[in-house]
Amino acid sequence: MSSLELLFLLLICCFIIYVIHWIILDCNVELWYKTHFGVPISSMRGQVVWVTGASSGIGRGLALVLAKNGIRLAISARREHLLDSLKRECLELSNGLLSESDVLVLPMDMLKLADHEKHFQIVINHFGRLDVLVNNAGRSQRANWEEIKIDVDHELFELDVFSVMNLSRIVVRHFVKNCDGHGHIAVTSSIAGLCEVPFSATYCAAKAAINSYYRALCLEQRNIDVTIFCPGPIATDFLQEAFTAEPGQKHGGSTKGQKRMTSERCGVLYASAIANKLNLSFCAMFPVVFLAYACQYSIFTSIFRRFLVKGTLNRIREGKI
Ligand SMILES: NC(=O)c1ccc[n+]([C@@H]2O[C@H](COP(=O)([O-])OP(=O)(O)OC[C@H]3O[C@@H](n4cnc5c(N)ncnc54)[C@H](OP(=O)(O)O)[C@@H]3O)[C@@H](O)[C@H]2O)c1
Repeated sequence: MSSLELLFLLLICCFIIYVIHWIILDCNVELWYKTHFGVPISSMRGQVVWVTGASSGIGRGLALVLAKNGIRLAISARREHLLDSLKRECLELSNGLLSESDVLVLPMDMLKLADHEKHFQIVINHFGRLDVLVNNAGRSQRANWEEIKIDVDHELFELDVFSVMNLSRIVVRHFVKNCDGHGHIAVTSSIAGLCEVPFSATYCAAKAAINSYYRALCLEQRNIDVTIFCPGPIATDFLQEAFTAEPGQKHGGSTKGQKRMTSERCGVLYASAIANKLNLSFCAMFPVVFLAYACQYSIFTSIFRRFLVKGTLNRIREGKI
């Protein structure tokens, strides 16, 4: 065998091993590696992280992991009573690493853009600093493409895109003006923003838009760390609140019984992606991670489009396969 053939064989073997990881891991390879061998979450101890959408689901899971590692928190959402009980749990879990003033409950409606600056000032006045903003608040969608009303497109983009852009810009301006251009912004995107799924057209578009907006920030502000975190199906109550095709309507469904990653596991992976300043990460259970990887290769995308009918893809994303 010539050395060229040997090299070729070696490359094929490496690719096969790489693809096996798409099947056995519950996140992308880089995130898995960094979670085990990279910077520990506790390296952020003493920093201040502002998590929006912290009252339930992924935001709550993330806040608990950060608190356990002694990271100071501002927690935001509309349901204040859930934030209050989250604060109590955070303090308990921190095992003395955090005191009462280290967790700030900051009720906030992300849709009231005019109040964003005021809320940001409350965080700065309270802690004197902000290290990481985690834009997590958002709502999903279940609707047939052709039935979606334009008002729903507007409403969904208002929350999942424009409110995120507005708050991020306020914080980035602060990083540029007061922190020598250094800082860290994270956003909860979705695997649906990397490869489209059926029955969530506006949502897929919104998450893809936010990915692109954040990647553009990386080009302009090289000292600002950007973490785009893309979960696949996670066991939260998001279906209750999901948009449908009709304005003002909520889906009201439940994910009970579906095969989904827990919000606790998602919180650990998210916190690790932030601690390691990873630019793009994703997490889910098999076969979603495999699909997320595979759809980055056009050969796989054409196969999926041809052979995976929308019903099958939907069952995969609903954790029924
Ligand atoms: N679960 C999944 O499978 C999945 C997959 C990929 C991506 N994601 C993304 O993960 C993020 C969190 O979703 P989740 O699954 O954890 O669902 P969730 O449990 O419903 O959490 C959504 C959070 O957003 C907050 N929120 C909603 N509207 C708000 C508003 N107008 N102002 C302020 N806060 C608002 C909610 O708090 P209040 O109601 O108290 O305001 C809640 O804390 C979303 O961006 C979602 O798109 C979820």
